[in-house]
Amino acid sequence: MSQSQRIPTVVPENAANHVPAAGENKVTTETPGAGVVTFEQVRRDPEVIALLQAANNTLKALGYTEHGQRHAGLVGHIAANVLERLGHPPRTYELAHIAGYLHDIGNVIHRENHALSGSLMAWQILRRLGMPTDECAVVMNAIGNHEEERGTVTNAVAAALIIADKADVHRSRVQNPRMEDFDIHDRVNYATTRSFVRVRPEEKIIALELEIDVQYAQVIEYFEIFLERMTMVRRAIEFLGCSFQLIINETRFS
Ligand SMILES: [Fe+2]
Ligand SMILES: [Fe+2]
Repeated sequence: MSQSQRIPTVVPENAANHVPAAGENKVTTETPGAGVVTFEQVRRDPEVIALLQAANNTLKALGYTEHGQRHAGLVGHIAANVLERLGHPPRTYELAHIAGYLHDIGNVIHRENHALSGSLMAWQILRRLGMPTDECAVVMNAIGNHEEERGTVTNAVAAALIIADKADVHRSRVQNPRMEDFDIHDRVNYATTRSFVRVRPEEKIIALELEIDVQYAQVIEYFEIFLERMTMVRRAIEFLGCSFQLIINETRFS
């Protein structure tokens, strides 16, 4: 599936619109004198690249949608943009970028508990790169809490990661080359031709806007497989001091 089909998600609109979010939602991660590990360092790390590719190969063999560098890059980008648009400090949204990029790396071991295994793998990688412990702790917590089965939000980076991860439903994620073999996840992803996280800081609203081609899947099927995820997204958005709107084919559902 062509990457060019992917429609961008969070658009950095007018920077003048940025307003600070509620102080209690912010993560303090400053460690004076500590080394700064950048998103680019993580993204270019050969071990990270190899592990993400291996994780996606594993899930592809099991029939899952794409969970490799495309998903990792997109989730990191959206997570960072959500916090940037809400006025969080640059280092906090860079940690969200890093957490988003690494969040599914645990799939290389097993799909089950991949949030927990991925969190421990991230610890090894980020320590090797020289990230201070307090920053590693934020990233590990976000990765370890991104799945709906057992995830609980306790900081802004974790909240942003959940919003970004669950928003990535899109045609370009389908890896199954045979449409006649599509399961419901393939069909709903394939039917989704646009997925956009719109942050409206001045109104304290975060909206997930989707366009679903009903030729391939019904809107009710989206809810059938993603209701639990949407509940998690709503909680994450409320943690950031905002309200959630879900808009599908220009109809508002929340
Ligand atoms: Fe995941
Ligand atoms: Fe994911």
